[in-house]
Amino acid sequence: MSSSGEGVLRAVETPLFWLGALTAAWVSLCSVYRLLSGFRVWVLGNGRLVSPAVLGKWAVVTGATDGIGKAYAEELARRGFAIVLISRSQEKLDEVSKAIESKCGVETKTIAADFSGTDIYSQIENGLAGLEIGVLVNNVGFSYSYPEFFLSVPDLDKFIDSLININMTSVCQMTRLVLPRMVERRKGAILNISSASGLFPVPLLTVYSASKAFVDFFSRGLQAEYKSKGIIIQSVLPFFVATKLSKIKRATLDKPSPERYVAAELNTVGLQSQTNGYLPHAIMGWLTTALLPTKVLSSYMMSMCLSQRARHLKKQKQG
Ligand SMILES: NC(=O)c1ccc[n+]([C@@H]2O[C@H](COP(=O)([O-])OP(=O)(O)OC[C@H]3O[C@@H](n4cnc5c(N)ncnc54)[C@H](OP(=O)(O)O)[C@@H]3O)[C@@H](O)[C@H]2O)c1
Repeated sequence: MSSSGEGVLRAVETPLFWLGALTAAWVSLCSVYRLLSGFRVWVLGNGRLVSPAVLGKWAVVTGATDGIGKAYAEELARRGFAIVLISRSQEKLDEVSKAIESKCGVETKTIAADFSGTDIYSQIENGLAGLEIGVLVNNVGFSYSYPEFFLSVPDLDKFIDSLININMTSVCQMTRLVLPRMVERRKGAILNISSASGLFPVPLLTVYSASKAFVDFFSRGLQAEYKSKGIIIQSVLPFFVATKLSKIKRATLDKPSPERYVAAELNTVGLQSQTNGYLPHAIMGWLTTALLPTKVLSSYMMSMCLSQRARHLKKQKQG
């Protein structure tokens, strides 16, 4: 090597050493921080934070007669909250409210409302009047009956209106009704059920995926606005949970039952403002958003949804 080359090497040797040492220290610090905060969330949890004594007497759950919403209603009742259940069918509401009252010995109230419309909020406001609401779970949600190209979605005009009203308008309107009293009391938690499909675009489920990204952004923005007023607003982004909506019948470790998912999720309230809610889902969230390049993820999603679509259309043809 020429003497001028050696000179250059010697000149950059010390800065390169420090750059390497600082990078290694930074990566180690970040890993230790991740491990410690993981331990705090997934092992220690938040203790008795989600209880009526801390947040207020009533919990309100939308889409409370099935799946994840029903599991929230039951788990919050087990923790001693009186429950307001909101869903479409009065018959199912009566069934779930009776079961909760007899199992948990708490008060319940039901409101039958269809979130696909927008003329329901004064009826809901009347139903909630005078209640000390500690927790609101904005859970109600609607998705495609099968993955489909935007322009080929059956009854597209109506589908767009329903999906936006159920998945997005309900979250904003319910928050408008409940948040003012929480702010007055400087206490309360609002859990907005988004979805892992709001973390990245999911082709062929585009309107659903975009609506869930809206819920995530709405929640995170609102948390920044109201954190100093003592209010917890959490964006919850589950991967698959075994429910009617996901059409998964048998729960597994990575596709848990709604009860298992909700029990884990409630321990993250107050610790994570954006959460996948359940340790295996948190690992999946980290793998998909931090490790996989967006292009790879997007083409994987496209091929997965295309094959689901093909299976659905074949079944439909066979009759
Ligand atoms: N399951 C998953 O894998 C998964 C993954 C990520 C995110 N999520 C989200 O989690 C939430 C709950 O999903 P889920 O899987 O538990 O759904 P689900 O099993 O289909 O339950 C939906 C609940 O909402 C009610 N509902 C549906 N349409 C309604 C409407 N128009 N008005 C009022 N109530 C209505 C249903 O009751 P009635 O039919 O009696 O009204 C039922 O109680 C949704 O926001 C979903 O996007 C689910």
